[in-house]
Parts: sequence; structure tokens; C-alpha cells
Amino acid sequence: MTVTALPHWDETPTDLRAATREIKAALRARIAASGRTVEEVFAVVEQRVRASVDDVTAARRRGETVWPVIDYADIEAGTVGPDALATLRRRGCLVVRGHFAREQALDWDRGIVDYVESNHFFENYRGPGDDFFGSVGSTPEIYPIYWSPAQMQARQSERMARVQAFLNSQWTHESEGVRWFDPDRDSLYPDRIRRRPEGADSAGLGTHLDPGTLDLWMTSAYQRAFRHLFDGRVEQYDPWDAAHRTSGGQYPGSTMCSAFRTFQGWTALSDMDHDQGVLHTVPIPEAMAYLLLRPLLRDVPDDDMCGVTVNQVFPASHKWHAPLMEALAGIPDVRAGDSVWWHCDMIHSVAPVQAQQGWGNVMYIPAAPWCPRNEAYAASVREAFLTGSSPSDFPAEHYERTWPNRFRVEDLNEIGRRGLGLPL
Ligand SMILES: [Fe+2]
Repeated sequence: MTVTALPHWDETPTDLRAATREIKAALRARIAASGRTVEEVFAVVEQRVRASVDDVTAARRRGETVWPVIDYADIEAGTVGPDALATLRRRGCLVVRGHFAREQALDWDRGIVDYVESNHFFENYRGPGDDFFGSVGSTPEIYPIYWSPAQMQARQSERMARVQAFLNSQWTHESEGVRWFDPDRDSLYPDRIRRRPEGADSAGLGTHLDPGTLDLWMTSAYQRAFRHLFDGRVEQYDPWDAAHRTSGGQYPGSTMCSAFRTFQGWTALSDMDHDQGVLHTVPIPEAMAYLLLRPLLRDVPDDDMCGVTVNQVFPASHKWHAPLMEALAGIPDVRAGDSVWWHCDMIHSVAPVQAQQGWGNVMYIPAAPWCPRNEAYAASVREAFLTGSSPSDFPAEHYERTWPNRFRVEDLNEIGRRGLGLPL
């Protein structure tokens, strides 16, 4: 059996349709070389995913919470039981109860309001950074704010580091003689804040995934990371294997994330009920196999990856991924100070809400362990931190450059310095 190398594009191909046709033909040929057709291999994936979907829908029928919940105290004490760990791995998502004291989270929320108001943010707001004609002076839901004392205190807190290390260690981070990442050191990926006021109407956010777009099939790094999906040996695919995931990049674009995140996450800064426009996921990490192989079936045009293209989020849709959608599950009620986490490859969405009850406030803080990819990005994060700039993954809005009360380098503790790659 001869297995030829896959064509790859480590930069965005100039002709997307031609590259799509070429990679799909090559992937089909490579899978066929394993002795099974694409259809046979996909049937295996479909059956596995079906079993997981049934598990989720059965739990829902029994009235159980689909999202696993673990108390922070158990993570701190190292007393998370084997059943809870197994559920976390099966569902790929988690609510950490009491990650921070409720008063601490509410205090951070007030601190953010003081921070932006004292710097006249609302008067000067220029509209969404990617919308040239955005209206001046309106109140955004997403604040393009990165360097408030509240955010940095949370990012460099021991409680955050402990939960990130716990989540990172669910991944296999050493294999083939390589240590792919350091589970005990986070890179403090700076992201924004959402503050959605009482009474708000929001259309929500459709089902999508974050780790990439066409690059998931086309770059040499991702081809290595998803090697078992692309060589016909899907039984060996492990969504918790970090091998080859921590050095390559993504195609540039408005939706890219330069960092490798084991889990996406946010920390609640207000109480939120489960029916108030909250986060949902398809809680099945191995659904990635379905998403990456589905375009190879014959009912998808040769130059189409089920609607995935560059510069737009990867859409998960009823048209191409209907069986997965049955498992879409929302978080339970959360309180200020709880945190919410989901495997970086999982489909997620934000439900719409009308006349929202209570606030919907979160700080986006993921788990982004130290690895070559995150170390490279940390250089630009350091620069953004020192100058109060927007990090390079985000629109170049730079509101905080002249804000005197932003978090300063002398406020960093050891976790903060380590995360930014500054000398201790
Ligand atoms: Fe997302």
C-alpha cells in the first residue's frame, strides 16, 4: 500500500475552490488506500456519534443536567472522583461551581464598570471594530477591553491557574517523545468582556466552532493533528490528543485565534438562568470526526466543505450536521463566580433572548497552556499589555492606551509574569 503525501497550503490558498477540490480528492484517495471507502469510514464515525447523541438525549429525558458540574473545592483538594472525570471527558464541557466567591465576581463586575466609565468609554465608543460605519457613542454588549484590573486579577489568580491546570491535564500532552504543552503554565490569552443588560433582546449566535476553517483540512500542522481522521483509521482518533496541535497557526482572518486552547471558557460576573440566552454546546468532543469527514461524502459538491470558508466562523448546520444538532445542550443556571468551559473543537452557540431577566455578564478566559504556538503569540500579548493595546487577534481599537488606571506591569504576580513570558 502506498500512501502519498497530502497537498497542503500553510498560507491561505489563492484559489479556495481549486484547493478544496484538490484536498478532497487527495483525502478520499488516502482514506481509500487504508482498505475502506470514505463511506465505510464515515459510517463508523456516524455510529459512534449517534451513540453519544443518544446518551445526551436520554440524560435529558431523565431530567438530568447534561453539562457536568464540579465544585471548585474538589478541584482544589484533588478529590474529583473517577465518575465525574469520566463525565467531563465524555461530554467535553464543565461548569465549575464556586470557582470564585460570588462577592469577588460581583466586585470585579463593578470594577469593570468603574474602569470603563472613569475613562469615558461609552461616550467615545466607535461601534464594532469591524464595522466602519458603526454608530458613535452607543453601548456595546461586547466590550473590546482587555487590561482592566478585574480581568488581569482573574487571569493571574491561583484559582484560575488551578482550574486551567486541571482542564489541561485532561489532554494527553506528552507522546512520541515530545512534550506538546506544559499543563501547569497558562499563557493568559487576553480576550474581551460581555455585559448584556437587563431587558436586552439578543439574536444570539448560531452553532459554530472556533479552532479553524479551511485550514483544518489544508495546513500541514492540522493534517498531522487530525492524521487518524485523514488516513482512514478513525478508531484511533482521540479528541484529547494534543500531538501536533501546538505549533502550527491558522489562516489569518477576523475569526482566527492565534493560540492553542484546550478549553474555551468564561467566568460569570452575574447570576444567569439557563433560559436567558445562554451558551449551548453539542457536548460530544469526537463530533470533530463527523465535521471533518462529512464534506468528503458524495452529496457535497467537490468544491464545497459544507459551507466552511475563510474569514467566517465554521458553521455547523442542520443541512449537513443534523444528527449532531439533536444533542445541543445549554448550561444550567450559573451564579456569579462560577466558570463555564468547553473543549476547543466543540460546536457551540448562544441562544437568543427577549427581554432578558437580570444581567448576562462574563469575562472570557480560556485555558491556553504554554506551548510553542502560545509562546509565539505571547510576544505580541506582552507588547499589547505594556502599551494598553488591543491584542493582535482582535480589531485594532486600542481604547485603553491612554487609560491611566489599567493593570500595570508592577501589579503582576508570579503567575502573571510566567503567563506573559516575563522574567520572574
Ligand atoms: Fe465561538
